[in-house]
Amino acid sequence: MIIDVKELYNNIDKYMGKEITLQGWIRNHRKQKELGFIDFSDGTCFQHVQVVYDDQLDDFDSITKYHVGSAIEVHGLVIQSPKEGQAFEIQTQKILLLGDCPEDYPLQPKKHSREFLREQAYLRPRANLFQAAFRVRSVAAYSIHKYFQERGYVYFQAPLLTASDCEGAGEMFHVTSFDLAHVPMKDGEVDYSKDMFDCPSSLTVSGQLEAETFALAYKKTYTFGPTFRAENSNTRVHANEFWMIEPEIAFCDLAGDMEIMEDMLKYVVSYVLEHCKDEMEFFDKFIESGLIQKLEKLVHSRFTRITHREAIEILQKADVKWEFEPKQGEDIAKEHEKYITEYFDGPVFITDWPKDIKAFYMKENEDGQTVAAVDLEVPGAGEIMGGSQREDCYEKLVKRMDDLGMDKQELYWYINLRKFGSCVHSGFGLGFERLLIYITGIDNIRDVIPYPRTPGNCDF
Ligand code: 4AD
Ligand code: MG
Repeated sequence: MIIDVKELYNNIDKYMGKEITLQGWIRNHRKQKELGFIDFSDGTCFQHVQVVYDDQLDDFDSITKYHVGSAIEVHGLVIQSPKEGQAFEIQTQKILLLGDCPEDYPLQPKKHSREFLREQAYLRPRANLFQAAFRVRSVAAYSIHKYFQERGYVYFQAPLLTASDCEGAGEMFHVTSFDLAHVPMKDGEVDYSKDMFDCPSSLTVSGQLEAETFALAYKKTYTFGPTFRAENSNTRVHANEFWMIEPEIAFCDLAGDMEIMEDMLKYVVSYVLEHCKDEMEFFDKFIESGLIQKLEKLVHSRFTRITHREAIEILQKADVKWEFEPKQGEDIAKEHEKYITEYFDGPVFITDWPKDIKAFYMKENEDGQTVAAVDLEVPGAGEIMGGSQREDCYEKLVKRMDDLGMDKQELYWYINLRKFGSCVHSGFGLGFERLLIYITGIDNIRDVIPYPRTPGNCDF
């Protein structure tokens, strides 16, 4: 009977003393004169299996030559292992070589640098660190859907090709079907009427604007998909393609929005801690010491809530030589985020941001200076979520767009939401990779996304 290694671990009592068949790969191979030991895994769980064979097998000599990386089928008996810390091992009756692997296979069983493994991105899911990281990624994604689905949110797929710049930051990747060597021109300008969509188009930076249309139809909705930003930021937490979760909730104000942000984050963290025990122990041991304790503390804490004004006051009182002096009315730099999360020793919501540094759609506060926006800052990953109550007043939104010199024609449908049954509504965006950085302790976004797209890199 062919079984998964995961099934074997989960039901070891059932299989002890029985004959089984496993299919997977050789991770390591040690040979002695009369015995051989194969460190075997099939990817169905983080744990490996020790496969032991001896010279009673007719093809003992050829098995000893099987290389690391080869695909094999093992027929054997599950027995108690004499090795300490190992519950069982496989006593081999037969091993079939399904797919050979040459000796110069790049993933030899030794410590490789993360940089080297990035160059081997098509092989790195086989390495322990990435095997763990991408399983956590999968489980976390599932838990996010589970969280929202169980609470009645409608999953909405925002378009990836769009004509609108949600964040207004001008960081769009432009999309065209033109032959770039022969772009049609008219009166000295690009003639987009000849392009596929008859207008300039781009890859989306956020599905929020479209999500709002669904929130005003379903009350609770969320998107979970890729977003693209043409920002030339070479940091550990920026990618040009990243996944974002964007819930949008009608009849919900900023305070309600923050409750959802906090509740969801705790749910996802708990879910991963419970369902990825081996992976999380590995990260705690080899990547970030104290990681599990940090996450357990988060689950049981109440997140700090401060305003942008208060945050700047704390920063200005701090005895730190800043690269960027913290100033009222201005943005918060990476070094400031770090200080604030360390100061409160956990996640911090910063609310009520200066309106001039935030997006057009945010609800203006009564002071006329700030908007009902929130960022959630966590130690290590910095800003993992950004959200706001949306401007639901038609006149105010139109005025804001005029002040910013925005094209209202293009977003008429978005503005009309404020005319056709408008209501208080709010939402937020969770950067999926930032979340994974926080959960795994892996400190570089390039190592929590299978094929990272960052400035200068679109390999694989
Ligand atoms: O703060 P941002 O730009 O907010 C929005 O896009 C809103 N439309 C969200 C909403 O209210 N529906 O992005 C949201 C989150 C950030 O907090 C961050 O976690 C992540 O997306 N993010 C990035 N992650 C990786 N690489 C980048 N270049 C990122 N830019 C933003
Ligand atoms: Mg933001």
